[in-house]
Amino acid sequence: MNLKDKTALVTGASSGIGKSFAYLLASKGAHLVLVARTQAKLEEIANDIQNTKQVSVHVYQKDLSQLNAASELYEQLQKDQIDIDLLVNNAGYGKWGKFEDFSLEEYVKMIQLNVTSLMELCHLYVEDFREKPAAGIINVGSTASFIPVPYSSVYAATKSFVLNFTEGLVGELSETNIKVFCLCPGGTASNFATVANESGVDNSQAKLMSSDEVAQLGLDAFLAGKHYIVTGRRFQLILFKFLSRKRVLSMIADYWRKRLGV
Ligand SMILES: NC(=O)c1ccc[n+]([C@@H]2O[C@H](COP(=O)([O-])OP(=O)(O)OC[C@H]3O[C@@H](n4cnc5c(N)ncnc54)[C@H](OP(=O)(O)O)[C@@H]3O)[C@@H](O)[C@H]2O)c1
Repeated sequence: MNLKDKTALVTGASSGIGKSFAYLLASKGAHLVLVARTQAKLEEIANDIQNTKQVSVHVYQKDLSQLNAASELYEQLQKDQIDIDLLVNNAGYGKWGKFEDFSLEEYVKMIQLNVTSLMELCHLYVEDFREKPAAGIINVGSTASFIPVPYSSVYAATKSFVLNFTEGLVGELSETNIKVFCLCPGGTASNFATVANESGVDNSQAKLMSSDEVAQLGLDAFLAGKHYIVTGRRFQLILFKFLSRKRVLSMIADYWRKRLGV
């Protein structure tokens, strides 16, 4: 897919991997629609990109953890006559801690953002994309897409949905002009840990890739026609394939118990 003069919608573009995607896509000549809750950050990024690249950037403030937010965003973009060619469903967050330490409302919001809004935007855009000569969807999963994660169980389950759902679409749309891809990052330097880590676990020793590296690897793999990529510490996932599910669970649970001090 040649991105020059295509338009990419990036959710969660105000920081981390989404922000890196915004700069990277602009450097390939794509116009941008940037979405997140923090308008000021989006505008700062939009101004910076428009000052340095020959692309247009539109900013939409939206809380995608709210019911119907995805369809409201889609309708607004239709009204504003902004046509999308590439959907980057990146916005998402997790929480680290005991399951019952977070409210049900928190989990419902997380599922709405990480799962429902992501799926809804795909549903809304797939129909439009079928009419185009080339279009794409990049959904951001996680290494947690592959494994259950005690002490982050709802988050890991949402990311498991993202990978399974995305791969389902890959199979379904393989003979169309729509390229579908799942980026599964391992630990990445961003605001993610600050949002997830209310108990303030020291994350300074964690080996993290930069969000720029992750977005670059993701976009390269997408453009190369792969249907998913894992970035970061892949050896653990490979190791887990040789162990029983029970053993993997107890290893991850022990790791998080120590890390969270619970
Ligand atoms: N960092 C990691 O280690 C890691 C690992 C695996 C997967 N991931 C995944 O990578 C994706 C990007 O995360 P990141 O690491 O870049 O974290 P980040 O720096 O915290 O970025 C998250 C982005 O999502 C936006 N966002 C959060 N809640 C939102 C909401 N309710 N509505 C709309 N936008 C919302 C945030 O902007 P506002 O706060 O302005 O809304 C921000 O732009 C997520 O899906 C995450 O699960 C991250």
